[in-house]
Amino acid sequence: MRRTLVLLLALSAAGCARKNATPTGPLVERGRQAYARLCATCHGPTAQGYAADNSPSLRSPTFLASATDAFLRAGIARGRPGTAMAAFGRALGGPLAPAEVDAIIAFLREGGPPPQPLPPGPVNGDLTQGRVIYQANCARCHGTQTRRSSAIHLANPILLETASFAFLRRAVEAGRPPTSMVPWKGALTPAQIVDVVAYVRSMAVRPGIPAAPPPGARAGTPLLPRTGPVVLNPAGRAADFALKEDRFVSIDLVKKALDEKRRLVIADARAPSDWLNLHIAGAISTPYYDARSLDDIPNDGTWVLAYCACPHHVSGQVVDELRKRGYKHTAVIDEGIFAWQHKGYPIVATPGLLPSAAPPPPSHR
Ligand code: HEC
Ligand code: HEC
Repeated sequence: MRRTLVLLLALSAAGCARKNATPTGPLVERGRQAYARLCATCHGPTAQGYAADNSPSLRSPTFLASATDAFLRAGIARGRPGTAMAAFGRALGGPLAPAEVDAIIAFLREGGPPPQPLPPGPVNGDLTQGRVIYQANCARCHGTQTRRSSAIHLANPILLETASFAFLRRAVEAGRPPTSMVPWKGALTPAQIVDVVAYVRSMAVRPGIPAAPPPGARAGTPLLPRTGPVVLNPAGRAADFALKEDRFVSIDLVKKALDEKRRLVIADARAPSDWLNLHIAGAISTPYYDARSLDDIPNDGTWVLAYCACPHHVSGQVVDELRKRGYKHTAVIDEGIFAWQHKGYPIVATPGLLPSAAPPPPSHR
Protein backbone atom coordinates (compact mmCIF):
# COMPACT_ATOMS: atom_id res chain seq x y z
CA MET A 1 0.00 0.00 0.00
CA ARG A 2 2.70 2.46 1.08
CA ARG A 3 4.81 1.45 -1.92
CA THR A 4 1.90 2.25 -4.22
CA LEU A 5 1.54 5.67 -2.60
CA VAL A 6 5.22 6.46 -2.96
CA LEU A 7 5.09 5.32 -6.56
CA LEU A 8 2.09 7.53 -7.25
CA LEU A 9 3.79 10.52 -5.66
CA ALA A 10 6.94 9.86 -7.67
CA LEU A 11 4.90 9.57 -10.84
CA SER A 12 2.95 12.76 -10.27
CA ALA A 13 6.17 14.60 -9.41
CA ALA A 14 7.66 13.34 -12.68
CA GLY A 15 4.53 14.55 -14.47
CA CYS A 16 4.88 18.06 -12.99
CA ALA A 17 8.55 18.26 -13.85
CA ARG A 18 7.72 17.30 -17.40
CA LYS A 19 5.04 19.94 -17.69
CA ASN A 20 7.31 22.70 -16.45
CA ALA A 21 10.25 21.67 -18.59
CA THR A 22 8.52 21.67 -21.98
CA PRO A 23 6.26 24.49 -23.08
CA THR A 24 3.45 22.82 -24.99
CA GLY A 25 2.85 23.68 -28.62
CA PRO A 26 -0.56 23.87 -30.32
CA LEU A 27 -0.22 20.35 -31.76
CA VAL A 28 0.39 18.86 -28.30
CA GLU A 29 -2.50 20.92 -26.94
CA ARG A 30 -4.86 19.58 -29.61
CA GLY A 31 -3.64 16.08 -28.86
CA ARG A 32 -4.19 16.63 -25.15
CA GLN A 33 -7.81 17.62 -25.72
CA ALA A 34 -8.60 14.73 -28.07
CA TYR A 35 -6.88 12.38 -25.63
CA ALA A 36 -8.94 13.69 -22.70
CA ARG A 37 -12.19 13.20 -24.62
CA LEU A 38 -11.52 9.77 -26.10
CA CYS A 39 -8.76 7.92 -24.31
CA ALA A 40 -8.46 9.07 -20.68
CA THR A 41 -11.45 7.00 -19.59
CA CYS A 42 -9.40 3.80 -20.09
CA HIS A 43 -5.72 4.83 -20.27
CA GLY A 44 -6.02 7.38 -17.44
CA PRO A 45 -5.79 11.19 -17.46
CA THR A 46 -2.02 11.25 -17.91
CA ALA A 47 -1.84 8.07 -20.04
CA GLN A 48 -0.19 6.08 -17.29
CA GLY A 49 -2.68 3.26 -17.98
CA TYR A 50 -5.01 1.12 -15.89
CA ALA A 51 -7.94 3.51 -15.40
CA ALA A 52 -10.17 0.75 -16.85
CA ASP A 53 -10.12 -2.54 -18.73
CA ASN A 54 -6.47 -3.24 -17.98
CA SER A 55 -5.56 -0.62 -20.56
CA PRO A 56 -1.76 -0.41 -20.80
CA SER A 57 0.43 2.56 -20.03
CA LEU A 58 1.17 4.74 -23.06
CA ARG A 59 3.86 6.65 -21.22
CA SER A 60 6.33 4.16 -19.85
CA PRO A 61 9.80 5.23 -21.02
CA THR A 62 10.68 1.80 -22.43
CA PHE A 63 7.48 1.84 -24.48
CA LEU A 64 8.01 5.33 -25.90
CA ALA A 65 11.68 4.60 -26.64
CA SER A 66 10.88 1.54 -28.75
CA ALA A 67 7.49 2.36 -30.32
CA THR A 68 7.76 4.12 -33.68
CA ASP A 69 5.17 6.69 -34.75
CA ALA A 70 3.96 4.17 -37.35
CA PHE A 71 3.35 1.60 -34.59
CA LEU A 72 1.43 4.13 -32.48
CA ARG A 73 -0.54 5.33 -35.49
CA ALA A 74 -1.59 1.78 -36.37
CA GLY A 75 -2.54 1.02 -32.76
CA ILE A 76 -4.72 4.12 -32.52
CA ALA A 77 -6.23 4.16 -36.02
CA ARG A 78 -6.77 0.40 -36.43
CA GLY A 79 -7.21 -0.55 -32.79
CA ARG A 80 -6.79 -4.06 -31.46
CA PRO A 81 -9.90 -5.84 -32.73
CA GLY A 82 -11.32 -8.32 -30.27
CA THR A 83 -10.24 -6.19 -27.27
CA ALA A 84 -11.61 -3.01 -25.69
CA MET A 85 -9.23 -0.97 -27.91
CA ALA A 86 -11.36 0.34 -30.79
CA ALA A 87 -10.19 1.51 -34.20
CA PHE A 88 -10.27 5.29 -33.72
CA GLY A 89 -9.27 6.16 -37.30
CA ARG A 90 -11.85 7.76 -39.60
CA ALA A 91 -11.12 5.28 -42.38
CA LEU A 92 -12.55 2.48 -40.24
CA GLY A 93 -15.53 4.39 -38.87
CA GLY A 94 -13.82 5.92 -35.82
CA PRO A 95 -13.86 9.60 -34.79
CA LEU A 96 -10.27 10.70 -35.60
CA ALA A 97 -8.85 12.22 -38.80
CA PRO A 98 -5.18 11.30 -39.45
CA ALA A 99 -3.99 14.74 -38.28
CA GLU A 100 -5.76 14.24 -34.95
CA VAL A 101 -4.09 10.86 -34.51
CA ASP A 102 -0.75 12.61 -35.04
CA ALA A 103 -1.67 15.27 -32.48
CA ILE A 104 -2.41 12.56 -29.91
CA ILE A 105 0.96 10.95 -30.68
CA ALA A 106 2.67 14.32 -30.13
CA PHE A 107 0.87 14.61 -26.78
CA LEU A 108 1.91 11.08 -25.75
CA ARG A 109 5.51 11.73 -26.72
CA GLU A 110 5.74 15.05 -24.88
CA GLY A 111 8.59 14.91 -22.38
CA GLY A 112 9.21 11.19 -23.01
CA PRO A 113 12.23 9.63 -24.71
CA PRO A 114 12.21 9.77 -28.53
CA PRO A 115 12.06 6.45 -30.38
CA GLN A 116 15.50 4.81 -30.64
CA PRO A 117 16.53 2.51 -33.47
CA LEU A 118 16.49 -1.03 -32.15
CA PRO A 119 19.59 -3.15 -32.76
CA PRO A 120 19.00 -5.95 -35.25
CA GLY A 121 19.34 -9.40 -33.75
CA PRO A 122 18.27 -12.96 -34.36
CA VAL A 123 14.67 -13.17 -35.55
CA ASN A 124 14.32 -16.92 -35.28
CA GLY A 125 14.04 -18.92 -32.12
CA ASP A 126 13.05 -22.38 -31.02
CA LEU A 127 9.24 -22.46 -30.92
CA THR A 128 9.02 -25.56 -28.74
CA GLN A 129 11.31 -24.04 -26.11
CA GLY A 130 9.52 -20.70 -26.49
CA ARG A 131 6.16 -22.27 -25.82
CA VAL A 132 7.38 -23.87 -22.59
CA ILE A 133 8.89 -20.56 -21.44
CA TYR A 134 5.69 -18.69 -22.36
CA GLN A 135 3.46 -21.07 -20.46
CA ALA A 136 5.65 -21.01 -17.38
CA ASN A 137 6.26 -17.24 -17.26
CA CYS A 138 3.90 -15.21 -19.41
CA ALA A 139 0.51 -16.90 -19.82
CA ARG A 140 -0.76 -15.93 -16.38
CA CYS A 141 -0.81 -12.27 -17.43
CA HIS A 142 -0.93 -12.42 -21.25
CA GLY A 143 -3.41 -15.28 -21.61
CA THR A 144 -3.45 -17.83 -24.38
CA GLN A 145 -3.84 -17.57 -28.10
CA THR A 146 -7.62 -17.40 -27.73
CA ARG A 147 -8.13 -15.83 -24.29
CA ARG A 148 -7.10 -12.41 -23.06
CA SER A 149 -6.03 -12.17 -19.43
CA SER A 150 -4.98 -9.07 -17.43
CA ALA A 151 -2.31 -7.75 -19.86
CA ILE A 152 -2.04 -6.86 -23.56
CA HIS A 153 -3.22 -9.74 -25.73
CA LEU A 154 -0.02 -10.65 -27.55
CA ALA A 155 -1.77 -12.91 -30.08
CA ASN A 156 -3.66 -9.93 -31.50
CA PRO A 157 -3.10 -9.89 -35.27
CA ILE A 158 -2.81 -6.10 -35.54
CA LEU A 159 -0.20 -6.03 -32.76
CA LEU A 160 1.81 -8.79 -34.40
CA GLU A 161 1.48 -7.25 -37.85
CA THR A 162 2.83 -3.90 -36.67
CA ALA A 163 5.32 -4.84 -33.92
CA SER A 164 8.76 -5.92 -35.12
CA PHE A 165 10.65 -8.84 -33.61
CA ALA A 166 13.11 -6.33 -32.14
CA PHE A 167 10.27 -4.31 -30.53
CA LEU A 168 8.89 -7.41 -28.81
CA ARG A 169 12.35 -8.58 -27.77
CA ARG A 170 13.14 -5.19 -26.26
CA ALA A 171 9.84 -5.19 -24.36
CA VAL A 172 10.69 -8.55 -22.81
CA GLU A 173 14.31 -7.59 -22.02
CA ALA A 174 13.59 -4.16 -20.55
CA GLY A 175 10.03 -4.61 -19.29
CA ARG A 176 7.68 -1.67 -18.91
CA PRO A 177 8.55 -0.11 -15.54
CA PRO A 178 6.69 0.96 -13.48
CA THR A 179 4.00 -1.56 -14.55
CA SER A 180 3.83 -5.23 -13.61
CA MET A 181 5.79 -6.07 -16.79
CA VAL A 182 9.21 -6.57 -15.21
CA PRO A 183 12.48 -6.75 -17.20
CA TRP A 184 13.18 -10.39 -18.03
CA LYS A 185 16.83 -9.84 -18.90
CA GLY A 186 18.75 -11.91 -16.36
CA ALA A 187 15.77 -14.03 -15.37
CA LEU A 188 15.81 -15.46 -18.90
CA THR A 189 18.93 -15.97 -21.04
CA PRO A 190 19.21 -14.01 -24.33
CA ALA A 191 18.48 -17.24 -26.23
CA GLN A 192 15.40 -17.93 -24.10
CA ILE A 193 14.12 -14.40 -24.79
CA VAL A 194 14.51 -14.97 -28.54
CA ASP A 195 12.70 -18.31 -28.21
CA VAL A 196 9.75 -16.85 -26.31
CA VAL A 197 9.41 -13.94 -28.77
CA ALA A 198 9.47 -16.40 -31.68
CA TYR A 199 6.66 -18.28 -29.95
CA VAL A 200 4.68 -15.05 -29.38
CA ARG A 201 4.96 -14.26 -33.08
CA SER A 202 3.72 -17.73 -33.94
CA MET A 203 0.52 -17.05 -31.98
CA ALA A 204 -0.86 -14.87 -34.81
CA VAL A 205 -2.78 -17.55 -36.58
CA ARG A 206 -5.55 -15.24 -37.61
CA PRO A 207 -4.15 -12.54 -39.81
CA GLY A 208 -6.41 -10.03 -41.45
CA ILE A 209 -9.39 -9.72 -39.14
CA PRO A 210 -11.46 -7.33 -41.22
CA ALA A 211 -11.39 -4.26 -39.01
CA ALA A 212 -12.93 -2.35 -41.89
CA PRO A 213 -16.46 -1.06 -42.33
CA PRO A 214 -18.61 -3.39 -44.42
CA PRO A 215 -19.41 -2.16 -47.92
CA GLY A 216 -22.16 0.42 -47.80
CA ALA A 217 -21.19 1.87 -44.41
CA ARG A 218 -20.03 5.45 -44.82
CA ALA A 219 -16.55 5.74 -43.38
CA GLY A 220 -15.63 8.94 -41.65
CA THR A 221 -19.01 10.10 -40.44
CA PRO A 222 -18.73 10.92 -36.76
CA LEU A 223 -22.04 9.24 -35.96
CA LEU A 224 -23.51 6.34 -37.90
CA PRO A 225 -26.89 6.87 -39.48
CA ARG A 226 -29.44 4.49 -37.94
CA THR A 227 -30.00 1.45 -40.09
CA GLY A 228 -32.78 -0.06 -37.98
CA PRO A 229 -35.30 0.89 -35.31
CA VAL A 230 -34.11 2.44 -32.03
CA VAL A 231 -36.67 0.57 -29.91
CA LEU A 232 -36.79 -3.21 -30.20
CA ASN A 233 -40.22 -4.85 -30.08
CA PRO A 234 -42.00 -1.48 -29.90
CA ALA A 235 -45.39 -3.19 -29.53
CA GLY A 236 -44.14 -5.69 -26.93
CA ARG A 237 -44.68 -5.66 -23.17
CA ALA A 238 -42.25 -3.47 -21.24
CA ALA A 239 -39.13 -5.27 -20.06
CA ASP A 240 -38.71 -5.61 -16.32
CA PHE A 241 -35.31 -6.05 -14.71
CA ALA A 242 -34.18 -6.27 -11.09
CA LEU A 243 -30.72 -4.72 -11.21
CA LYS A 244 -27.60 -5.81 -9.41
CA GLU A 245 -26.17 -2.87 -7.42
CA ASP A 246 -28.87 -0.68 -8.98
CA ARG A 247 -26.87 -0.76 -12.20
CA PHE A 248 -26.15 -4.14 -13.81
CA VAL A 249 -28.18 -6.70 -15.71
CA SER A 250 -26.76 -10.05 -16.87
CA ILE A 251 -26.52 -11.14 -20.50
CA ASP A 252 -28.81 -14.09 -19.71
CA LEU A 253 -31.63 -11.83 -18.49
CA VAL A 254 -31.27 -9.59 -21.55
CA LYS A 255 -31.42 -12.63 -23.86
CA LYS A 256 -34.52 -13.87 -22.02
CA ALA A 257 -36.24 -10.48 -22.42
CA LEU A 258 -35.45 -10.49 -26.14
CA ASP A 259 -36.82 -14.04 -26.48
CA GLU A 260 -40.03 -12.85 -24.76
CA LYS A 261 -40.22 -9.98 -27.26
CA ARG A 262 -40.06 -7.32 -24.55
CA ARG A 263 -39.81 -3.66 -25.51
CA LEU A 264 -36.31 -2.25 -24.89
CA VAL A 265 -33.34 -0.37 -26.37
CA ILE A 266 -29.82 -1.82 -26.59
CA ALA A 267 -27.08 0.81 -26.91
CA ASP A 268 -23.52 -0.03 -28.01
CA ALA A 269 -21.28 2.43 -26.12
CA ARG A 270 -18.09 1.71 -28.09
CA ALA A 271 -16.68 3.62 -31.06
CA PRO A 272 -18.75 3.13 -34.25
CA SER A 273 -15.86 1.20 -35.82
CA ASP A 274 -16.42 -1.52 -33.23
CA TRP A 275 -20.19 -1.48 -33.82
CA LEU A 276 -19.57 -1.94 -37.54
CA ASN A 277 -17.47 -5.04 -36.92
CA LEU A 278 -19.63 -6.68 -34.31
CA HIS A 279 -22.68 -5.78 -32.26
CA ILE A 280 -25.56 -7.36 -30.38
CA ALA A 281 -28.35 -7.92 -32.91
CA GLY A 282 -30.64 -4.89 -32.79
CA ALA A 283 -28.21 -2.64 -30.87
CA ILE A 284 -27.86 1.02 -31.92
CA SER A 285 -24.50 2.85 -31.95
CA THR A 286 -24.15 5.41 -29.13
CA PRO A 287 -20.41 6.15 -28.72
CA TYR A 288 -19.48 7.15 -25.16
CA TYR A 289 -17.78 10.33 -26.33
CA ASP A 290 -20.73 11.78 -28.26
CA ALA A 291 -23.86 12.31 -26.18
CA ARG A 292 -25.79 13.50 -29.26
CA SER A 293 -26.08 9.84 -30.20
CA LEU A 294 -28.58 9.46 -27.32
CA ASP A 295 -30.93 12.19 -28.53
CA ASP A 296 -33.28 9.87 -30.47
CA ILE A 297 -33.82 7.39 -27.61
CA PRO A 298 -37.34 7.87 -26.24
CA ASN A 299 -37.47 9.03 -22.64
CA ASP A 300 -40.74 7.28 -21.84
CA GLY A 301 -39.74 4.61 -19.33
CA THR A 302 -38.56 2.09 -21.96
CA TRP A 303 -35.54 0.18 -20.65
CA VAL A 304 -32.22 1.30 -22.19
CA LEU A 305 -29.37 -1.20 -21.78
CA ALA A 306 -25.82 -0.14 -22.65
CA TYR A 307 -22.84 -2.41 -23.21
CA CYS A 308 -19.21 -2.26 -24.28
CA ALA A 309 -16.30 -4.67 -24.60
CA CYS A 310 -14.84 -3.93 -21.35
CA PRO A 311 -17.25 -5.07 -19.74
CA HIS A 312 -18.28 -1.94 -17.83
CA HIS A 313 -16.49 1.23 -18.37
CA VAL A 314 -17.69 3.21 -21.35
CA SER A 315 -21.17 1.62 -21.07
CA GLY A 316 -21.25 3.09 -17.56
CA GLN A 317 -20.62 6.54 -19.02
CA VAL A 318 -23.63 6.16 -21.34
CA VAL A 319 -25.85 5.00 -18.47
CA ASP A 320 -24.68 7.93 -16.30
CA GLU A 321 -25.55 10.38 -19.10
CA LEU A 322 -29.01 8.85 -19.58
CA ARG A 323 -29.67 8.98 -15.83
CA LYS A 324 -28.57 12.61 -15.78
CA ARG A 325 -31.14 13.27 -18.48
CA GLY A 326 -33.84 11.66 -16.32
CA TYR A 327 -34.24 8.27 -18.02
CA LYS A 328 -35.98 6.05 -15.46
CA HIS A 329 -34.91 2.56 -16.58
CA THR A 330 -31.28 2.19 -17.56
CA ALA A 331 -28.64 -0.48 -16.97
CA VAL A 332 -25.24 -1.72 -17.98
CA ILE A 333 -25.14 -5.18 -19.56
CA ASP A 334 -22.78 -6.72 -17.07
CA GLU A 335 -20.49 -9.07 -18.97
CA GLY A 336 -20.16 -7.10 -22.21
CA ILE A 337 -20.19 -7.98 -25.92
CA PHE A 338 -17.49 -10.65 -25.97
CA ALA A 339 -19.21 -12.76 -23.32
CA TRP A 340 -22.45 -12.35 -25.31
CA GLN A 341 -20.68 -13.49 -28.47
CA HIS A 342 -19.04 -16.43 -26.72
CA LYS A 343 -22.40 -17.63 -25.43
CA GLY A 344 -23.62 -17.85 -29.02
CA TYR A 345 -26.28 -15.16 -28.48
CA PRO A 346 -27.43 -13.24 -31.60
CA ILE A 347 -24.92 -10.83 -33.07
CA VAL A 348 -24.38 -8.93 -36.29
CA ALA A 349 -20.78 -9.22 -37.50
CA THR A 350 -18.80 -8.23 -40.59
CA PRO A 351 -18.79 -11.25 -42.89
CA GLY A 352 -15.58 -13.18 -42.31
CA LEU A 353 -14.93 -11.66 -38.88
CA LEU A 354 -13.18 -14.23 -36.76
CA PRO A 355 -14.23 -14.81 -33.16
CA SER A 356 -12.69 -12.40 -30.69
CA ALA A 357 -10.49 -13.62 -27.88
CA ALA A 358 -12.53 -14.90 -24.98
CA PRO A 359 -13.04 -12.20 -22.36
CA PRO A 360 -10.82 -12.27 -19.30
CA PRO A 361 -12.16 -14.11 -16.26
CA PRO A 362 -13.94 -11.80 -13.77
CA SER A 363 -10.92 -11.59 -11.46
CA HIS A 364 -8.93 -9.95 -14.27
CA ARG A 365 -11.46 -7.33 -15.24
C1 HEC B 1 -12.46 1.28 -23.78
C2 HEC B 1 -11.11 1.40 -23.29
C3 HEC B 1 -10.07 2.07 -24.20
C4 HEC B 1 -10.15 3.30 -24.79
C5 HEC B 1 -11.28 4.31 -24.73
C6 HEC B 1 -8.89 3.49 -25.49
N1 HEC B 1 -8.09 2.39 -25.32
FE1 HEC B 1 -6.21 2.13 -26.11
N2 HEC B 1 -6.17 0.25 -25.38
C7 HEC B 1 -7.13 -0.32 -24.56
C8 HEC B 1 -6.76 -1.68 -24.26
C9 HEC B 1 -7.54 -2.65 -23.39
C10 HEC B 1 -5.54 -1.92 -24.94
C11 HEC B 1 -4.76 -3.22 -24.98
C12 HEC B 1 -5.41 -4.14 -25.99
C13 HEC B 1 -4.85 -5.54 -26.01
O1 HEC B 1 -5.22 -6.34 -25.18
O2 HEC B 1 -4.04 -5.83 -26.89
C14 HEC B 1 -5.18 -0.68 -25.62
C15 HEC B 1 -4.04 -0.51 -26.38
C16 HEC B 1 -3.61 0.70 -26.91
C17 HEC B 1 -2.37 0.92 -27.61
C18 HEC B 1 -1.30 -0.12 -27.89
C19 HEC B 1 -0.32 -0.13 -26.71
C20 HEC B 1 0.76 -1.19 -26.81
O3 HEC B 1 1.60 -1.22 -25.89
O4 HEC B 1 0.78 -2.00 -27.73
C21 HEC B 1 -2.32 2.25 -27.95
C22 HEC B 1 -1.21 2.97 -28.68
C23 HEC B 1 -3.56 2.85 -27.47
N3 HEC B 1 -4.32 1.88 -26.85
C24 HEC B 1 -3.88 4.19 -27.60
C25 HEC B 1 -5.16 4.70 -27.32
C26 HEC B 1 -5.56 6.05 -27.65
C27 HEC B 1 -4.65 7.12 -28.23
C28 HEC B 1 -6.89 6.15 -27.32
C29 HEC B 1 -7.82 7.32 -27.56
C30 HEC B 1 -7.93 7.76 -28.94
C31 HEC B 1 -7.29 4.88 -26.73
N4 HEC B 1 -6.21 4.03 -26.75
C32 HEC B 1 -8.56 4.61 -26.22
C33 HEC B 1 -8.30 0.28 -24.12
C34 HEC B 1 -8.77 1.51 -24.54
C1 HEC C 1 2.80 -10.00 -13.99
C2 HEC C 1 2.19 -9.93 -15.28
C3 HEC C 1 3.06 -10.12 -16.51
C4 HEC C 1 3.92 -11.16 -16.80
C5 HEC C 1 4.21 -12.38 -15.96
C6 HEC C 1 4.46 -10.87 -18.11
N1 HEC C 1 3.95 -9.70 -18.59
FE1 HEC C 1 4.36 -8.85 -20.41
N2 HEC C 1 3.24 -7.26 -19.91
C7 HEC C 1 2.49 -7.13 -18.77
C8 HEC C 1 1.83 -5.87 -18.78
C9 HEC C 1 0.90 -5.35 -17.70
C10 HEC C 1 2.23 -5.21 -19.98
C11 HEC C 1 1.82 -3.82 -20.44
C12 HEC C 1 2.61 -2.83 -19.62
C13 HEC C 1 2.25 -1.39 -19.88
O1 HEC C 1 1.25 -0.93 -19.34
O2 HEC C 1 3.00 -0.73 -20.61
C14 HEC C 1 3.12 -6.11 -20.67
C15 HEC C 1 3.72 -5.83 -21.88
C16 HEC C 1 4.39 -6.77 -22.64
C17 HEC C 1 4.85 -6.58 -24.00
C18 HEC C 1 4.73 -5.29 -24.79
C19 HEC C 1 3.50 -5.32 -25.68
C20 HEC C 1 3.21 -3.98 -26.32
O3 HEC C 1 2.41 -3.95 -27.27
O4 HEC C 1 3.69 -2.94 -25.88
C21 HEC C 1 5.41 -7.75 -24.40
C22 HEC C 1 6.02 -8.05 -25.76
C23 HEC C 1 5.33 -8.67 -23.30
N3 HEC C 1 4.70 -8.05 -22.23
C24 HEC C 1 5.79 -9.98 -23.31
C25 HEC C 1 5.87 -10.78 -22.18
C26 HEC C 1 6.50 -12.08 -22.16
C27 HEC C 1 7.10 -12.76 -23.38
C28 HEC C 1 6.41 -12.54 -20.89
C29 HEC C 1 6.98 -13.81 -20.33
C30 HEC C 1 8.41 -13.93 -20.40
C31 HEC C 1 5.68 -11.55 -20.11
N4 HEC C 1 5.38 -10.50 -20.93
C32 HEC C 1 5.34 -11.69 -18.78
C33 HEC C 1 2.38 -8.05 -17.75
C34 HEC C 1 3.10 -9.21 -17.65
